[in-house]
Amino acid sequence: MRVWAVANQKGGVGKTTTSIALAGLLAEAGKRVVVVDLDPHGSMTSYFGHNPDALEHSCYDLFLHKGQVPQGLPGQLLLPTSDEKVALLPSSTALATLERQSPGQSGLGLVIAKSLAQLWQDFDYAIIDSPPLLGVLMVNALAASQQLVIPVQTEYLAVKGLERMVNTLAMINRSRKQPLPFSIVPTLFDRRTQASMGTLRVLKDAYPEQIWQGYIPVDTRLRDASRAGQTPSQFDAKSRGVVAYRALLKHLLAQQLVAQVA
Ligand SMILES: Nc1ncnc2c1ncn2[C@@H]1O[C@H](COP(=O)(O)OP(=O)(O)O)[C@@H](O)[C@H]1O
Ligand SMILES: [Mg+2]
Repeated sequence: MRVWAVANQKGGVGKTTTSIALAGLLAEAGKRVVVVDLDPHGSMTSYFGHNPDALEHSCYDLFLHKGQVPQGLPGQLLLPTSDEKVALLPSSTALATLERQSPGQSGLGLVIAKSLAQLWQDFDYAIIDSPPLLGVLMVNALAASQQLVIPVQTEYLAVKGLERMVNTLAMINRSRKQPLPFSIVPTLFDRRTQASMGTLRVLKDAYPEQIWQGYIPVDTRLRDASRAGQTPSQFDAKSRGVVAYRALLKHLLAQQLVAQVA
């Protein structure tokens, strides 16, 4: 199983949309995918028609055993999505109680890594939708993954948020064997606006190695897909947004091959 985290310490940049779009496209390519909703807001869980305020069991259950994960528990927590090849490890509002804990002291930093290790045989990919706060959950997401996708909204303030995320990553990398490779993905791009064009230029100058050369355009079909509770490619396989996400997936798969060889 390959594990990708989608993270940025800013909200509304397209993390959840990117996680679900990539999961749907991997499923379309025949892969079995587990999506992990580590955001206490539970947007991904809601997207697939489950109510994070009402769920009795969620990812939260995984954190209740002093850092150990009981055999079989992750599999029991899985919920269905609109795509039979995509399973969901749901969020619940209870996760918020963990979010502000200091990651170093609680001993809970590897709970998600251990949980996914139990699902190794059942899935080809795991995609983790991460919370915007730096705490136990973000640390878990980054510790469990082999590749990081950072969606960045193409507007001026976004660059600051990205710097914060890159600093967080540097901190996490100190306790990893190998640094976590990351790809910056410009999102919500509108070529008619100065802000989008200007920000894209700034991003390319600042992170020439890590930035994906494409961008995800503003596409209302992505919003419509979320309203319908379907993955973007199920909802409209030819929309501009899906075409862009397809190109992104191709790039990420190529990056993965480079990482495996290195
Ligand atoms: N490329 C896009 N075009 C249009 N709307 C988008 C696009 N990406 C995301 N959205 C919408 O913007 C909002 C925030 O996106 P979301 O993926 O939930 O961000 P995050 O998870 O970072 O908070 C959602 O309503 C989503 O449907
Ligand atoms: Mg989200």
